[in-house]
Amino acid sequence: MEYLTFFFFACWISFANCVYSADTPQAPAPIPNEKLLVLTVATEETDGFLRFMQAANYFNYNVTVLGMGEAWKGGDVGRSIGGGQKIRLLKEAMEALADQEDLVVLSVDSYDLIFAGGPEEILRKFQQENHKVLFAAEGLIWPDKQLADKYPSVRSGKRYLNSGGIIGYAPYINKLVSQWNLHDNDDDQLFYTKIYLDPLQRETLNMTLDHKCQIFQNLNGAVDEVLLKFGTDRVRVRNTVYDTLPVVVHGNGNTKMYLNYLANYVPNAWNYEHGCSHCDDNVVDLSQLKEFPNVVVGVFIEQPTPFLPEFFQRLLTLDYPKDKLRLFVHNSEVYHEKHIQAFWEENRDVFNSFMVVGPEENLSQGEARNMGMDVCRKDATCEYYFSIDSDVMLNNRQTLKLLIEQNRKIIGPLVTRHGKLWSNFWGALSLDGYYARSEDYVDIVQRKRMGVWNIPYMAHVYLVKGSVLRNELKERKYFVLEKLDPDMAFCRNARELTSHREKDSPSPESFHMLKPPKGVFMYITNRHDFGRLISTANYNISHYNSDLWQIFENPVDWKEKYINQNYTRIFTENYLEEPCPDVFWFPVLSEKACDELVEEMEHYGSWSGGKHEDKRISGGYETVPTDDIHMKQIGFDKEWLHFIREFISPVTLKVFSGYYTKGYAVMNFVVKYTPGRQAYLRPHHDSSTFTINIALNNKDTDFQGGGCRFHRYNCSIESPRKGWSFMHPGRLTHLHEGLPTTNGTRYIAVSFIDP
Ligand SMILES: *[C@@H]1O[C@H](CO)[C@@H](O)[C@H](O)[C@H]1NC(C)=O
Ligand SMILES: *[C@@H]1O[C@H](CO)[C@@H](O)[C@H](O)[C@H]1NC(C)=O
Ligand SMILES: *[C@@H]1O[C@H](CO)[C@@H](O)[C@H](O)[C@H]1NC(C)=O
Ligand SMILES: *[C@@H]1O[C@H](CO)[C@@H](O)[C@H](O)[C@H]1NC(C)=O
Ligand SMILES: *[C@@H]1O[C@H](CO)[C@@H](O)[C@H](O)[C@H]1NC(C)=O
Ligand SMILES: *[C@@H]1O[C@H](CO)[C@@H](O)[C@H](O)[C@H]1NC(C)=O
Ligand SMILES: *[C@@H]1O[C@H](CO)[C@@H](O)[C@H](O)[C@H]1NC(C)=O
Repeated sequence: MEYLTFFFFACWISFANCVYSADTPQAPAPIPNEKLLVLTVATEETDGFLRFMQAANYFNYNVTVLGMGEAWKGGDVGRSIGGGQKIRLLKEAMEALADQEDLVVLSVDSYDLIFAGGPEEILRKFQQENHKVLFAAEGLIWPDKQLADKYPSVRSGKRYLNSGGIIGYAPYINKLVSQWNLHDNDDDQLFYTKIYLDPLQRETLNMTLDHKCQIFQNLNGAVDEVLLKFGTDRVRVRNTVYDTLPVVVHGNGNTKMYLNYLANYVPNAWNYEHGCSHCDDNVVDLSQLKEFPNVVVGVFIEQPTPFLPEFFQRLLTLDYPKDKLRLFVHNSEVYHEKHIQAFWEENRDVFNSFMVVGPEENLSQGEARNMGMDVCRKDATCEYYFSIDSDVMLNNRQTLKLLIEQNRKIIGPLVTRHGKLWSNFWGALSLDGYYARSEDYVDIVQRKRMGVWNIPYMAHVYLVKGSVLRNELKERKYFVLEKLDPDMAFCRNARELTSHREKDSPSPESFHMLKPPKGVFMYITNRHDFGRLISTANYNISHYNSDLWQIFENPVDWKEKYINQNYTRIFTENYLEEPCPDVFWFPVLSEKACDELVEEMEHYGSWSGGKHEDKRISGGYETVPTDDIHMKQIGFDKEWLHFIREFISPVTLKVFSGYYTKGYAVMNFVVKYTPGRQAYLRPHHDSSTFTINIALNNKDTDFQGGGCRFHRYNCSIESPRKGWSFMHPGRLTHLHEGLPTTNGTRYIAVSFIDP
């Protein structure tokens, strides 16, 4: 019943609808597909053009391309008037087709347009419109606003003509375009508009507009009207205002980026059932090449960055012949000179070449990035430029190969901040060019949708073809956006004003983002797990080994660097020992953690001297004093307690089952045993529920003697292992002593837990 009511209501609203509905049963025979010819003007095979052709081929459209190879004289379409060249070419082409009465010609743009449906559907919808010529419509009038009054009024739908899409019978289209006698840079839309607004011409040429986007969807001013509609095989664009499924989707005006987003799905690029369908198109098989391509690797250290030595190690372990890599490093931080020096000394001969531009050059970030690109641009043998910032931790050794194989002009691997939605790309731009979150951003970041995505901006890590640097991107000052592009500078300033810069916003700082040049598509791939972005915020470089302090800010990298490789085996393989009753022995710190902690203490240097008087503890008196430095003295107590909670507590629960430690400790310190100062410690109990005692160096290489003896059990452990910890009860049962260190220096880290 409701359906019927609606039907009559619709008739009452629009007599025209009623006529169509009534006509449908006796509709004329469908126009066969081969009677549709698509004409488009393209002077170059841009990425947009190739995308258009891909969709056209997918639907089996018969496309004739006009003007290929011809110089474009049609002006800067989209910003100013122009496009007359398109009509001139169309006019020439139509002369030959004018007498084919049953031929339907579809004239469309191709750089910024995609098909969402096939010829059959277009022809059916065209027939339903019952006119000889049908133009696309839009809600905005262009280029002459004064003409608005002359337009026939429409009760509902878009009122103004857009020349990006025209469909009509060949003789009529011919009559239309044969009137052209203007110049190539005159405006095509104005030309069509004037004809359409002439009531006589409108009638004799039997023209109308596609007011409700049955066939043509112009996105300019209409981005909010459309949604993706996922089907099993195909993805459509749905116009939610008119409830239509347009067939031709046109990113006119300032909506190219939005069209790129839609085209990541439409017509069959990606869907839920099959995932990405073009990801393996045109890939390069590196194993088939005689030689690997030459790559210039631009490394940018633009701020103090935690884990820089590890960053360089990952670069070294990339699976790519190093003699094909030329390194360009820009370092703006004096703090990092020692790290680069160390890496350079060891590896300068590993790479084809190794160039470092240091802080003394005082280059701005933009200048440095331009310089890096130039290294590749100016070298005709450079096939790829791989730009990577020091905050990118690639954990996929295949990254460079995978990017090259994907064979795109510009492509970056997705990298994200661990556990956050922060990544190295933007999924969308707001219409005024600022950051906007695309509907699919979260799914792409979390790799729920995997593929190769056409996106508007990216940063931190990407690969650009050398040929693109020498052509589309040959403008050298590409990166000095602060100067070139006030919008972006504004954008950056606005973002920096909002102090918690990563709280919600997943957008990296925009000023070093790569923006695609006109007509070039820029992709991000999340087909593989490539790695992560580390946080450079809160990096205090006034410590000797500042990375030790990164346990909060970059927990994943901290663990990788400082926790023993075999630590997790404690839980998976019961990888621990009990050398004396209730004394558990397990690996916890890495070699690096041990070395850096010792270095940090020696750098601080104020060892207590093992005296009974001790101002650092409450009461000021220590009965069994050691020669030590407290974690608190080097400002490491919060970090150390966090380490205890994260890495010691789970072991406690395993070996003393049922005991849940609070992970609280006041006494956390590094002890130094050496013959000249304090060499041993007399038997004592600890003021703790349990104690951990981690060996920070190696017996025999670093010292002789040492170890620990537990009296009650007449049990000694004389060969402590670097990075391994003892864990034993403190206050009761485990009276123990530190055995004499006879030569060299022995270091241990001790905590009295749950005092
Ligand atoms: C495509 O259109 C042209 C021009 O009308 C025609 O000559 C040709 O046969 C068509 N091709 C196909 C495959 O229909
Ligand atoms: C346009 O042509 C169709 C037939 O193709 C005709 O039915 C219709 O009345 C014409 N419309 C106008 C406005 O002339
Ligand atoms: C570095 O450059 C900045 C701005 O370009 C300038 O203000 C500053 O004085 C320069 N510093 C040195 C040491 O040259
Ligand atoms: C950085 O570390 C130094 C040395 O521990 C400390 O004095 C300083 O307050 C720290 N700075 C910040 C911002 O935390
Ligand atoms: C981990 O254990 C293996 C043998 O089980 C050993 O070869 C390796 O050196 C250990 N790694 C560390 C960091 O101790
Ligand atoms: C302690 O053990 C050692 C051997 O490890 C043994 O020689 C000694 O007699 C033991 N002492 C006691 C008191 O049991
Ligand atoms: C003490 O250690 C040093 C080097 O660490 C070594 O040269 C020396 O021989 C050692 N002395 C003894 C008695 O082992």
